Amino acid sequence: MIELQRLTKVYRGGQLALNDVSAKLTKKVTAVIGRNGAGKTTLMRILSTQLLPTSGTATINGFDILRDKGKIRKFLVSVPQEGRPIGMLTPFEHLRIYLTARGMSFSDATEAARKALKELELWEFRDRPADMLSGGMKRKLFVAMAIAAGADYVFLDEPTTGLDPLSRIEVWAAIKELRADVLLTTHYMEEAVELSEEIVFMDGGKIIAQGELNSLLEGFKGMIRVESSSPVDGWMRVGNIYFTYASADEAEAYLKKGFSIKQITLEDLFIRHGVMEIEP
Ligand SMILES: Nc1ncnc2c1ncn2[C@@H]1O[C@H](COP(=O)(O)OP(=O)(O)OP(=O)(O)O)[C@@H](O)[C@H]1O
Ligand SMILES: [Mg+2]
Repeated sequence: MIELQRLTKVYRGGQLALNDVSAKLTKKVTAVIGRNGAGKTTLMRILSTQLLPTSGTATINGFDILRDKGKIRKFLVSVPQEGRPIGMLTPFEHLRIYLTARGMSFSDATEAARKALKELELWEFRDRPADMLSGGMKRKLFVAMAIAAGADYVFLDEPTTGLDPLSRIEVWAAIKELRADVLLTTHYMEEAVELSEEIVFMDGGKIIAQGELNSLLEGFKGMIRVESSSPVDGWMRVGNIYFTYASADEAEAYLKKGFSIKQITLEDLFIRHGVMEIEP
């Protein structure tokens, strides 16, 4: 359970990244969505006690991020958006060092490391220096470290960005197996649907909607998006794509007329909430 109390962050230089945000996050898995620059990473970093808020505070399982930093760090692990492993250390070493530093015995750490590396299909690469891992493997290594730690709370900032479809599914499976509460950010609708019970929708440093995805998507049920690359009267436009919404029953008729059909995505949610500029 996380409670945000009038959380505000103004970065040096004056950028307002969180604007007086209050909320309660009570579900086991919560997904934070929003466009680039919405404030998601800032929120994650403040809650994981890596960054101080300008004003306001928050509690995690009753512990205050300002007063109880040490306690929170014991039961919470966080995977940063831009984390880089240490070049000459291998995945196995990363995990064992990290887990023993968190207080596990060497044999427990070895066992937990083995399990997590296997779960994320990194076992084969366990002895390869991190420098020689692909970007996606590095990303998975951080996820492995987080899930192996046995924490009560796990924060994941864009855990699957840049991963291939199979790796994404491995990460999803690992997250689903966690007993921990999870707070994650994502730009993928399927990910939010697959993993989370509640969605927090941020824009301009504020939470502009919160709830189950189904309720956020109300009105889009049974709908599709119809797109055209040339202008159509009465349709909306984003960039050089013209589009409208229609009932899924009409999909075939639109296809026959040469339009393309898309599933509803987060972009549609952004449009609905006025987060994305559209032109009539
Ligand atoms: N260290 C910093 N110094 C100054 N401004 C920053 C800093 N970090 C982020 N910002 C600004 O704060 C705002 C929120 O950034 P944040 O990284 O929290 O967004 P985000 O929602 O995580 O975006 P993304 O989806 O691109 O990861 C942006 O306007 C960003 O430019
Ligand atoms: Mg971010």
